[in-house]
Amino acid sequence: MKVLSKYPELRLRRNRKYSWTRRLVEENNLTVNDLILPIFITEGKSKIEPIKSMPNISRYSIDQLNRVVNKASKLGIPLVAIFPHTSSKKKNFNGSEALNENNLVCKAIKKIKKNYPDIGVMTDVALDPYTSHGHDGLLKKNEILNDETIEILSKQSLLQASMGSDIIAPSDMMDGRVGVIRKTLDKNNFKNVQILSYSSKYASNFYGPFRDAIGSRKKLKGDKKSYQMDYRNSNEAIREVALDIKEGADFVMVKPGLPYLDVIQKIKQNFNIPVFAYQVSGEYSMIINSINKGIINDDAVIESMMSFKRSGASAIVTYFALNLASKIKKDL
Ligand code: PBG
Repeated sequence: MKVLSKYPELRLRRNRKYSWTRRLVEENNLTVNDLILPIFITEGKSKIEPIKSMPNISRYSIDQLNRVVNKASKLGIPLVAIFPHTSSKKKNFNGSEALNENNLVCKAIKKIKKNYPDIGVMTDVALDPYTSHGHDGLLKKNEILNDETIEILSKQSLLQASMGSDIIAPSDMMDGRVGVIRKTLDKNNFKNVQILSYSSKYASNFYGPFRDAIGSRKKLKGDKKSYQMDYRNSNEAIREVALDIKEGADFVMVKPGLPYLDVIQKIKQNFNIPVFAYQVSGEYSMIINSINKGIINDDAVIESMMSFKRSGASAIVTYFALNLASKIKKDL
């Protein structure tokens, strides 16, 4: 039997000829279940404050939070991630506001879990929204202390879990924090609370607009290179993930997203754990600014999502989540 293996008998364009053929052979797809919505919260009342460096994204005061969560819930988005903008007054050297049981994050968790029992809430574990120097951990003589920081992070995790957080997401990159947090949660009867470890979080230049959003950009002393990963490396990501799996992570995150698709793929080739991608603030702003200027077409957003799916990501944290979810709903 003659096998048709090359041109002119074989023409790959045949499968691309019509929309219906393309749909039949599609290898990946995006659904609302793939989307995680980050939400910024702020102090005060009746506030919906636009964030200058992130077009169309705002910070919500707790009394306005339902507006955005309601949209997410109606569209069927499975999970929201909460990030606080803490006033400068409440920031201090050791970030003690992180452990205040009346802090913004605690209030937000309680409110969302009460009003929207069907949506998951994920909370970030790190000190940067609360420290006067903008670092994720305790600072001593130009060093970010590891073990001392973990102790506080495990208390922060316990507090968030006791308020009802479903997923504890350490984004601090201290060594050994996942294991300590898992033990602390288990000891205190939170054995069903999940841990999403930011396993491969790079010391990236793409976090700028996020730091504006939580008010830490101008405060940050130096950089985060002594704890976040070096962007020249990817084997190191495998070591980080292996440790986090051993320590009890339920899923792992790669962050930023688009410049690190190789890392997602490499993790998927080595482990069976679900991997999430974080399309971070700088990526969001670059894409939205180019769309707003008419430089690129807005389907670029879907294209970026499909690249995450191709690389093997199970879900994507993206500031486009609400737009994407409405688009997906309309197309059905
Ligand atoms: C902090 C944290 C950062 C982001 C999420 N959690 C910034 C940083 O590490 O400086 C960035 C997210 C984004 O840029 O969208 N622990």
